[in-house]
Amino acid sequence: MFRRTEPTDCTISWEGRDIPARAGESLAVTLLAAGVTAFRQTPVTGTERGPLCLMGACFDCLVELDGQQNVQACLAPVRPGMVAAMQRGARHFHQSEDAA
Ligand code: FES
Repeated sequence: MFRRTEPTDCTISWEGRDIPARAGESLAVTLLAAGVTAFRQTPVTGTERGPLCLMGACFDCLVELDGQQNVQACLAPVRPGMVAAMQRGARHFHQSEDAA
């Protein structure tokens, strides 16, 4: 679907698999270039969704990034060694956040 025009210079982890990346490009671009199209599953039906706008408006690119949920992959710059995973369902709140 997408083809890289610039060489990669690092790797990231996606769902436990190493993905070639270029530091500074968006995580969404990295994943799309690797053939990943499902970034999250909806909270109600579990339907898979992927990036649509690539500019921070649609929220269909939400992922878990380095343990933080609800990160917009299209706005997250790649850092070597970052660990990302699919966002499954709604964000899980920690007990300390519920009390706030
Ligand atoms: S692709 Fe739309 S917010 Fe990221």
